[in-house]
Amino acid sequence: MLVHIPNVLTPEEVSYCRATLEKSEWVDGKVTAGDQSAKAKFNLQIPQDSAEGRELGEIILRALGRNPTFNSAALPLRVFPPLFNRYDEGMRFHAHVDNAIRPVPGTGFRMRTDLSSTLFLSEMEEYDGGELMIQDTFGVQSVRFPAGDMVLYPSSSLHSVSPVTRGSRWASFFWSQSMVPDDTQRTLLYQFDLAIIETRKLLPDDSPAVLGLTSTYHNLLRQWAQL
Ligand code: NI
Repeated sequence: MLVHIPNVLTPEEVSYCRATLEKSEWVDGKVTAGDQSAKAKFNLQIPQDSAEGRELGEIILRALGRNPTFNSAALPLRVFPPLFNRYDEGMRFHAHVDNAIRPVPGTGFRMRTDLSSTLFLSEMEEYDGGELMIQDTFGVQSVRFPAGDMVLYPSSSLHSVSPVTRGSRWASFFWSQSMVPDDTQRTLLYQFDLAIIETRKLLPDDSPAVLGLTSTYHNLLRQWAQL
């Protein structure tokens, strides 16, 4: 399932990220790519261990922590420290699947990438092209959102970034390991949660319907969660 999460960052946070990235050093994006994707990847990135990248990453992690849609849709167990990329005119990323396992920088841990995220930092009118093309169960979805918005999609999906034909497209990208690794189960829980939210608008929290649905949600999560 592909989830659009609007306004993950406030306009002030987007401006701060942009201003900081403008002063940062950019390197070839192949540094974080696997063997296959290195041959497919033509973009620029902020080095993974740079002070600017770490500071902005913290801002994004805090924003994710306060975002109910991200938490309900991803059910995150671990989130990779956010990275930052940029596609100038002519840059692109051919079709690839993200690496399944990633060492988490600065820790001795590795994580499984269940979900990929792209958080847009450029306004749509600042560039042409640069669509994120995601192979979904319903076909290829073309994704392009305003600055501050994010897309969350299964890391198992084949995806690409089409060439930027004007301007420059800046974004943050990162992965999450979910408490519920299976995409179908995670999608059911997300839809279930949305239905509970709608039901709670109509019925009091102590009504048998709300109580029953909420209990079942948690008992399903207990069945499927892997910590
Ligand atoms: Ni990718």
